[in-house]
Amino acid sequence: MKYNNVFHENPEKLHVNTEPNRNYFIPFSANTNPFEERESSNCFMLLNGAWNFRFYNSFLDIEDDFLHAGFSETIPVPSNWQLNGYDKPMYLNVRYPIPYNPPYVPDENPVGVYQRNFNVDISDSFERFLNFEGVDSCFYLYINNQFVGYSQVTHMTSEFNITKYLVDGENSVVVMVLKWCDGTYFECQDKWRMSGIIRDVYILSRPKERINNYRVVTNLNEAYDGANIDVTVKASTGVKVKLYDATDSLVSEVVVKDEKASFEIKSPVLWNAENPYLYKLILETEHETIGEKIGIRDIKVEKGCVLVNGVAIKFKGVNRHDSDPITGSYISKKQMLKDLYLMKQHNINAIRTSHYPNAPMFLQLCDELGFYIIDEADLECHGSVDASQTMDNNGDYSGIALAVNIKEFQKAILDRVDLMISRDINRPSIIFWSLGNESGYSKALENAARYIKSVDVTRLVHYESMEQLEGAQKAIHNEETLDVVSRMYSTVDWITNSFLADKNEKRPFMLCEYCHAMGNGPGDLENYWKVFYSNDRLCGGFIWEWCDHGIEVGKAENGKTMYAYGGDSHEPIHDSNFCIDGLVYPDRTPHTGLLEAKNVYRPIRINPVYIDKGVYEFVNTYDFTELSEKLKCRYEVTEQGKVIVSDEIDIYLPAKAKKFITIPKLAGLSGKSLYVRFIFAEKDDTVWAENGFNVGFEQFLIAETERKLTVTKTNHAINFNEDRKSINISGKNFAYTVDKRTGLFSKMEFKGTKLIEKAMEFNAFRAPIDNDCAVKNDWSKFHFNELITKIYSINTTKNEHFVEITFHLALGYFSYHNTFDITNKICVYNSGEVKIHSNVNVADKRPYLPRFGLRLFMDKEFSNVEYYGYGPVESYIDKHRASYKGNFSQQVCEMHEDYIKPQENSSHMGCEYVKISNDKLCVKIESEQDFAFNASEYSEEELAKKAHNYELEKSGYSIVCIDYKQSGVGSTSCGPYLLEEYQLNEKSFDFSFLIAPTDK
Ligand code: GAL
Ligand code: MG
Repeated sequence: MKYNNVFHENPEKLHVNTEPNRNYFIPFSANTNPFEERESSNCFMLLNGAWNFRFYNSFLDIEDDFLHAGFSETIPVPSNWQLNGYDKPMYLNVRYPIPYNPPYVPDENPVGVYQRNFNVDISDSFERFLNFEGVDSCFYLYINNQFVGYSQVTHMTSEFNITKYLVDGENSVVVMVLKWCDGTYFECQDKWRMSGIIRDVYILSRPKERINNYRVVTNLNEAYDGANIDVTVKASTGVKVKLYDATDSLVSEVVVKDEKASFEIKSPVLWNAENPYLYKLILETEHETIGEKIGIRDIKVEKGCVLVNGVAIKFKGVNRHDSDPITGSYISKKQMLKDLYLMKQHNINAIRTSHYPNAPMFLQLCDELGFYIIDEADLECHGSVDASQTMDNNGDYSGIALAVNIKEFQKAILDRVDLMISRDINRPSIIFWSLGNESGYSKALENAARYIKSVDVTRLVHYESMEQLEGAQKAIHNEETLDVVSRMYSTVDWITNSFLADKNEKRPFMLCEYCHAMGNGPGDLENYWKVFYSNDRLCGGFIWEWCDHGIEVGKAENGKTMYAYGGDSHEPIHDSNFCIDGLVYPDRTPHTGLLEAKNVYRPIRINPVYIDKGVYEFVNTYDFTELSEKLKCRYEVTEQGKVIVSDEIDIYLPAKAKKFITIPKLAGLSGKSLYVRFIFAEKDDTVWAENGFNVGFEQFLIAETERKLTVTKTNHAINFNEDRKSINISGKNFAYTVDKRTGLFSKMEFKGTKLIEKAMEFNAFRAPIDNDCAVKNDWSKFHFNELITKIYSINTTKNEHFVEITFHLALGYFSYHNTFDITNKICVYNSGEVKIHSNVNVADKRPYLPRFGLRLFMDKEFSNVEYYGYGPVESYIDKHRASYKGNFSQQVCEMHEDYIKPQENSSHMGCEYVKISNDKLCVKIESEQDFAFNASEYSEEELAKKAHNYELEKSGYSIVCIDYKQSGVGSTSCGPYLLEEYQLNEKSFDFSFLIAPTDK
């Protein structure tokens, strides 16, 4: 066996004895409903379930008579064997998981042999077709111990006619799956490298005379009020083709054989992602009936815009991998729906199937629910970059096109593209065919693009990775074959000042990846959307990426699910937590980044016009939907967080239109911190949400009065005394100590209760977030978390109401000039209230600061938090669209966003005050300037130290950080450097806090 049939290292033999590529369909028996679930078709036999299984560490270990070797173990199909106790998962981003030696793979090539029996009654003389929707990475197929064929390309269907191998009654199927093959060189996607039969396996029973494939093309007239549906059928028998509308009324009926059926439709209802109207097509032969849902729409580029049904659309997109913490690369229909409903709930209208086609059913669900799809071929050769590097050119990306230029691989490139378009050609949701991801340029890719154009003029061609193409060649080939300029992670500045300024470039622009959602982020979404909305040529973007790819490996003692990422299975090489970069946690709990995306992607935007007169401009960002068809609007006016006026408004606003609306109740209002928030909700029930479901909101400041801190003074005496180390200040109800070595309090006791458990600190540190990757080395150089203090002077004065101490101090670290020069003024009033005023000067040649403020360690009984600021979701200067200014109450234990790789989280910006209380006392912290705070059970040091959330240990305190400011979060982990406007890089600033303890 070993030396025969070795197709898996032979790029000439990609598929052996497979059926010709065809569009996906499932036949049903004549006169049954072909729109039922496929499992209910008599012609469909699902072979999922427990299969016998034998695992070999190496292809070389396989016995010559392995077909007779017997089994003692079983494995679920579909699944990854690495998640079932064999071999181990390996997470790699850009590198090849094997030595670069195309088309060869290592001899130590793990193998899984799968076997099961199945019954057939062959008396009906039907033919049997065995279908595999996905096997990673390749397989040899045997029926009743006879070799049937071979196939590869993990995420595409392989179909075999197994009729002649079958016997009446019980039959055996054996599938020998190899971990690596020559196809591995094309499957270097950023994912867990895992193997097995990863998608459904089934047998179709089909008559000899049958439909082989068919193609549906919808053509619209110029006025979009008439359409032709052309159905080209390849069949060996007569086919009756019937067209129904969505309510099952017959539109028309035609009989064809191996030819075209045409339907003319007057006033068709068009398909778009907002209103995914589907007609139903039924193809009938004597024995079979096939159901196909059709969306009538057209897609084209005109005047530099991507048009769907003549309308320039915006992709509010995400990139999505098939990934689940338990089932790995296998995704059931239920799991698909969970993702798609969640996307709908979060205003996402487009998906790039990064970086391979999903199972066919996924696309059907996208047709039904309404998503625009970039269907991407199973092709990525990113590993070429590292493979082509040497000692001298380390870090050089120019080798990206190494693999796609291998002569022997040209066939495989076209194969991968053709498999995709053949299978998915009838899906209305597909707008773009994508050649693949990150593989550079080659003639073969260009030919594949030309091939697509020769087969399908009804869709657009996408490919981002043209890096390897130079000069004039770039302009020529690029334009002919690629319909849009697609980029990853470009800056807003580049889009406006380079792309839009380029007079030679006429095509539309999109970002196939942007706003890298790893960890706490992304912080740049709104900036992109401001520019996307400014120009119809900018058709949106796809956030990287939908989900965290953690693998569930158990439960920790503290009850948390343990998710593994790169390195956790001791892979020899890995890319750590770069697979934990989604908008949802592995179990699909939304990250705050998804909530941010939801509100940036909201279907309505509002511009204030004359706030005092209650005039606002409403902009409908739906491309096809009149607003009141779908949404209802309500507003609430709050004064310091309390609702004082609220009402509903009817807004009739056609798609893409804008208009001024005067809301009399919002005119002429004045007050203290007065805000209006418009809230939009679903009008009707949908499959993903009930009516009333919140789809987005927008808030505006109407009026505010100047904020003045008022301190409480009493008639009680205040005293102080000092020794070498400290200054003790006391009065009725309180006893405080200021530490002469730090310039801050070391003890604060009010009515016998300790307000702080440890010395107060200046705080310029945050647990680095994934997006701090670029700056964190600079931060650690200056050791913001362990600053060394120098006190230059201390000045104490007293009057009848207060004691004031002024420190001049510096903070720095070994070997460097001090980073901070601070004048800190502490004023203790006889009421026990405390005002701290700091003037901070930052040394030159320092990185921007993560934050600057004070840190308090309070007893954990101080567990109740109330604040007036941006909540309830964590909010940062560049990531606050999911939150709004309001009055919120939370427990400290709830104020933690449990990122799988722990990092700074749960700050709230724009705060006017925060109150922290235990049963008896309340400590109010207030400022005249907006400030940010976190309250947490975990220290920033702990968050910085631990690799996984389940390892976190509570500090035993309520740790309160009150910040003058904190820097933004950005998306630097893969995207641009944090924009300057979001960096805390002021060289001199002042802040002050009033800390006021009272009875609760
Ligand atoms: C992109 C790539 C994605 C992913 C991302 C980093 O360059 O296309 O697949 O690896 O970087 O998360
Ligand atoms: Mg990649």
